[in-house]
Amino acid sequence: MDVEVLGRVLSTLPVDDDHPYRSGPWRPQTVERAADDLEVIGEIPRDLDGVYLRNTENPVHPAIESYHPFDGDSMVHVVGFRDGKAFYRNRFVRTDGFVAEQREGRSLWAGLTEHPGHAIRADGWGARGRMKDTSSTDIVVHAGVALTSFYQCGDLYELDPLTLDTLGKSTWHGDFPSHCGVSAHPKVDAATGELLFFNYGKESPYLHYGVVSADNRLVHYVDVPLPGPRLPHDMAFTENYAILNDCPLFWEPNLLAKGAHAVRFHPELPTRLGVLPRYGSAEDIRWFDAEPTFVLHWVNAYEDGDEIVLDGFFQSDPVGERSHWPGDPRYARMFRMLSFDGMQTRLHRWRLNLATGQAKEERLSESFTEFGMINGRLGGRPHRYAYASTGEPGWFLFNGMVKHDIFTGAEDAYRYGPGVYGSETAMAPRVGSVEEDDGYVITLTTDMNLDRSECLIFDARRISDGPLARIPLPERVSSGTHSTWAPGESIPNWRIADDAPAAVGL
Ligand SMILES: [Fe+2]
Repeated sequence: MDVEVLGRVLSTLPVDDDHPYRSGPWRPQTVERAADDLEVIGEIPRDLDGVYLRNTENPVHPAIESYHPFDGDSMVHVVGFRDGKAFYRNRFVRTDGFVAEQREGRSLWAGLTEHPGHAIRADGWGARGRMKDTSSTDIVVHAGVALTSFYQCGDLYELDPLTLDTLGKSTWHGDFPSHCGVSAHPKVDAATGELLFFNYGKESPYLHYGVVSADNRLVHYVDVPLPGPRLPHDMAFTENYAILNDCPLFWEPNLLAKGAHAVRFHPELPTRLGVLPRYGSAEDIRWFDAEPTFVLHWVNAYEDGDEIVLDGFFQSDPVGERSHWPGDPRYARMFRMLSFDGMQTRLHRWRLNLATGQAKEERLSESFTEFGMINGRLGGRPHRYAYASTGEPGWFLFNGMVKHDIFTGAEDAYRYGPGVYGSETAMAPRVGSVEEDDGYVITLTTDMNLDRSECLIFDARRISDGPLARIPLPERVSSGTHSTWAPGESIPNWRIADDAPAAVGL
C-alpha cells in the first residue's frame, strides 16, 4: 500500500490514556493520510461507483474536566470506489474551535458533561451554549459538497468529498441562520436535490425548520413553536411533508432556570410528532401524540393515502435506568445510556393519519438495533429495507449489522466478530440498478485483534454471507458512527480525473 502522509496535528492527550471512550477501539488518530489503489482481499465490484464518507469524534486534547464521546473533534474518512479500485483519505475538519485549540494546545470549551461556566472561552456554540462546534456528528453530500454537522447545532462545514479539504462554512448566500446554527441530520431529498434541516435552542420558539434548494439557497425557514427547550436529534420527510419531533426527554426546567442542564425523561408526557407541509408555516403544523420515548434516529417516512408512515427506533428505556455498564464504575452514570441494550432501541413504525389526527404505532422487530439506513434514492418515498447496526452490550460500539425486511419481518444479520466494530452501514445502489436492495452495503471496521481497520463491502441481498471484499486501511481508525454514500455522478469532476484526486496539503 502506497501511503502518503498529508499532515499531523498536535495532540496533548496522555500516551497512557485510559478513558474508556479515548482508548481501545476509540483510540484517536493524529495523522492524516492518503492512499490510492488500495490492496483488496476479494474483489471490488466495478458497478460500485462513488464514495463512502464517515464522520468520527476524534479528540486531540484532554477535556477541561470530563470527556464525553460526543465532544471529539471531527475527522472524516473517505473510501472511494471507481473502476474496481479504491482510494482512501482521512482529514480533520478545520472547524473554528479545532483551529483555536490547536493554536492554544488545550481544550477551550466545556463538553457535554461539563458545566458551561467552566469553559475557558466565554463564547461558544451549541443549543446549550459554551460548547465547541465540533462538526463531528453527521455527514451528508448536498450540491456536490460534503457537509459535516454538530448534534447541538452549529455551522455546516463544507468539504471536498474527494480530498476532504475543508472548504469553509455554508453561508447560503448570507442567509445561514447563525443565531441557532443547524442541527445534525439535515436530510437530502435525492428526488429534488433539496436539503431539509432544523435547529433548536433555549429561546422561544425553541425549534425552526428550513429548506435549502438544490442550488444552495435558503428558500424556506419557519418557526416551530414548542412548549419549552427540547433536544431533537433527527427529523424525517416525505414527498410533501417534513416531520419534526417533541420527545419527552429534555433539560429539567427547574434546574435549567438555575443554569444546570440535566436531561430527564418525562414518561408522563407523550411523544409529539409534528407534520407540516414541506413549505408550510407554524399554523400548518399538525401534532400527533404517541407513546413516550426518545427517538435518536428515524429511518425514513413516506405517504400512504391519508397516512404518513414513519419508521424509526423506539427507546424503551431512554435514560438506560436498567442498563449494565461493563466498564470502569467511575463512568457508569455518564455512559449507561449510550448502548442499544441500555436504551432498548427497537425498529418501530408510527402511522400518522392526517384525516383523523390519530397516531398508531407498532414494534417492527424484537432486536436491539439503531442507526438504520436505506437506499438513499428512496428518501421520503416508500421503502422496504433498513440496514441497521447491532450494539456491543453496554457500549456505544457496533458489533454487527442487520438488514431488516419490513414487509416480512426477516432479518439478515452479520456479526463482525469479537473485538471488531463497524460504523454506520451505508447502502450504495449498484450503478444502473432499479430494485431497492440491488447494491452494496459498506462499513469501516476497527479490529482490536489485528490492530487494523478495513472497509467491508457486502452484497445488500446477502448480508449474512459476509463481505465480498475487504480493503485494509493504512491505520486502525477510531470507532465512529454516522456515514453516507454519495454516487460518483453526484460529485463534480468525478469522471474528469484519470485517477484518484491529488492530495492537497494542510
Ligand atoms: Fe445521530
